[in-house]
Amino acid sequence: MHRTVLVCQHDTCSQQGAAQVLAAFQQQFSNAVTITSSGCLGQCGSGPMVLVLPEETWYCHIRPPDVPIIVEEHLNQARIVTQKLYPKFHPTGKSVEIWLTAFGVTLVLLALLLTMLARQTYYLHLSQVS
Ligand code: FES
Repeated sequence: MHRTVLVCQHDTCSQQGAAQVLAAFQQQFSNAVTITSSGCLGQCGSGPMVLVLPEETWYCHIRPPDVPIIVEEHLNQARIVTQKLYPKFHPTGKSVEIWLTAFGVTLVLLALLLTMLARQTYYLHLSQVS
């Protein structure tokens, strides 16, 4: 499978060292993978952003020392480098766990609130009957 690696070179990513990241990718390959600069990938502030196509794997906060790891693991061995995945598009087990915990806490609080409302309604009803 031929892959394309997009390295954002727009404002924010550029300020975060995207040119060095692009240069590091370009030193690694000749024609097996297309390495190209891109305009803003719409994820400013998490850069330098790197997008690997066609599988649409997003990597964030990439530094030049990360590049050989991505090349060897992802591009050569087809193993995703989970430590550098962009969590917005690739939620990890930990972030899913956090969301489930927050959802569970919300359910418990909602149940407590409904119980309190039911008791208040019951006591109000008792006071009106007597
Ligand atoms: S500047 Fe790189 S994602 Fe916007």
